[in-house]
Amino acid sequence: MIFEIKDLHFSYFLGKEKIEALRGLTLSIRKGVMTAVSGPSGSGKSTLLNILGLIEPALEGQVFFLGRNLALLKEKEKNHLRKHKFGFIFQQFHLIPVLTAEENVAYFLSSQGLPSQEVRSRTKKALEAVGLWPQRGQKPFELSGGQKQRVAIARAIAKRPDLIIADEPTASLDRKTAQEIMEILASCSQTVILTTHDPMVEAYAQDRIRLADGRLA
Ligand SMILES: Nc1ncnc2c1ncn2[C@@H]1O[C@H](COP(=O)(O)OP(=O)(O)OP(=O)(O)O)[C@@H](O)[C@H]1O
Ligand SMILES: [Mg+2]
Repeated sequence: MIFEIKDLHFSYFLGKEKIEALRGLTLSIRKGVMTAVSGPSGSGKSTLLNILGLIEPALEGQVFFLGRNLALLKEKEKNHLRKHKFGFIFQQFHLIPVLTAEENVAYFLSSQGLPSQEVRSRTKKALEAVGLWPQRGQKPFELSGGQKQRVAIARAIAKRPDLIIADEPTASLDRKTAQEIMEILASCSQTVILTTHDPMVEAYAQDRIRLADGRLA
C-alpha cells in the first residue's frame, strides 16, 4: 500500500463556521496502480488529494505514506517528498508561461539539483513519452489544452516520482483529448491518484474510491 488512511477528518474554518470536508475516511491506496477518486462537487475529493500531496496537514485521524505516519514527518521531510517523490498534475496545467515545453520540464529537474546532462536526457525521454518532442520549443500559449497537459505529465514523470497526484487532470479538455491524456497516464505504469467527475476517466483506473459528503459513498 502506498497510503493507509484511518478515520481521517478534515475541516475548513471560515470565520467561526466549520466546514467538515472529510468525516471519517478509512481506506488504503495501492502502489503501482491508478486510483480514481470520484463523487459530487464538494464531496471532499480535492481535500483528500491535498492531504495526500502534503499540501494540507491531516487534522484528525492518521495517514501513512509507505508506512510512515505523515503527522510525525518534519516540515523538511515533507518538502523533500513534495519536491522529489510526488509529481503533481492540475486541471489548469500550471505551466510557466515564459518557458518552452522543454524548459518547463527541465526547470523542475534542474531545481532538484540533477546534473545538466541528466536533466537533458530525462526531459527528452519524458517529452517523447507524451509525443511532444517536436513541439519542445513552443511556449504554453502556442500549445493546445491537451498539449499543455501532456507537458505537465512529462514534467511529472520526468521526476520519476513515487506517485503522481492529479486533481481533475482532464476537466478542461474535450472528450477525445481527455481520452488521449488518460491513455498516456495509464501507460506510464506509475502509482497515479486522480480525481474526476467523468466515468470515462474513472474506467481507466484499477481502483475506485467514491466519496459523498466527506465519507465513502
Ligand atoms: N479553502 C476552503 N475554505 C473553506 N471551505 C472549503 C475550502 N476548500 C474546500 N472547502 C469546502 O470543503 C468541502 C469539500 O471541498 P473539496 O474541494 O474537497 O470538494 P471536491 O469534491 O473536490 O469538489 P469539486 O468536484 O467541486 O472539485 C466543500 O464543502 C467545500 O465547500
Ligand atoms: Mg475538487
